[in-house]
Amino acid sequence: MLEVRDLTIRYGKHVALQDASLSVSKGTMVAILGANGAGKSSLLGAIGGRVRPSGGEILYGAQNLLELKPHELVEKGIALVPEGRGIFPGLTVSENLSLGANPVHARAKSDAGREQVFTLFPKLAERRTQIAGTMSGGEQQMVAIGRALMSAPEMLLLDEPSLGLAPIVVQEVFSALRRIRQTGLTILIVEQNARATLDLADHAYLLEAGRISGSGPAETLRNDPAVVRAFLGGAVTAQT
Ligand SMILES: Nc1ncnc2c1ncn2[C@@H]1O[C@H](COP(=O)(O)OP(=O)(O)OP(=O)(O)O)[C@@H](O)[C@H]1O
Ligand SMILES: [Mg+2]
Repeated sequence: MLEVRDLTIRYGKHVALQDASLSVSKGTMVAILGANGAGKSSLLGAIGGRVRPSGGEILYGAQNLLELKPHELVEKGIALVPEGRGIFPGLTVSENLSLGANPVHARAKSDAGREQVFTLFPKLAERRTQIAGTMSGGEQQMVAIGRALMSAPEMLLLDEPSLGLAPIVVQEVFSALRRIRQTGLTILIVEQNARATLDLADHAYLLEAGRISGSGPAETLRNDPAVVRAFLGGAVTAQT
């Protein structure tokens, strides 16, 4: 479905991403794991049309995404939830959701979309008239994901949805992602919360200093001692 080939991103002299290749099959959840500054947001931003790469290709079916403008990507069914959420803090929850239903193919389905979002995040249904900027970090993340879902996407790009959230809220976000996944949506997620992400994803890529340093089925990576040391913070311990 998505095929990234030899993608390179430079900011002036700084090379943020070097010859990165990855693919995402329809209906799967793929994770990109990496430390701060590894190039995760740059990679996701390039796929979502926010960052212009200096080399490589991004193919979505037969379409070269690098030829499209950000709003055309959303029409194609690609929705990015950026790092830091990017919601409209002065508008209500309901207004934020409505703004997500902008693509032509999403407008007709916006009532159904809203129902789906409220089923996934009951808290948003209760708080639909609340000004989004007054909500907690976790609730704002739900608004951001909900708004992306309102665009009726085929593929959801998530940049660190658990960033800055308390562990219990992280769990809430991941359980919502599990439910979103079950709807068959294709998901590409960038995360530092490696363990929770590998529990959910089908496949993962490891990004270190702008280069893909490894990849494999999530299950395999979860049990790989080198991955555990570098990304999961500690030795593999036997389940007791
Ligand atoms: N607009 C920019 N101009 C200059 N340098 C940038 C820009 N955006 C990112 N960088 C640099 O590129 C590198 C990769 O940044 P990126 O944001 O992609 O990393 P990341 O993996 O998402 O990090 P984090 O986990 O902190 O979000 C960093 O060294 C960063 O300083
Ligand atoms: Mg980032």
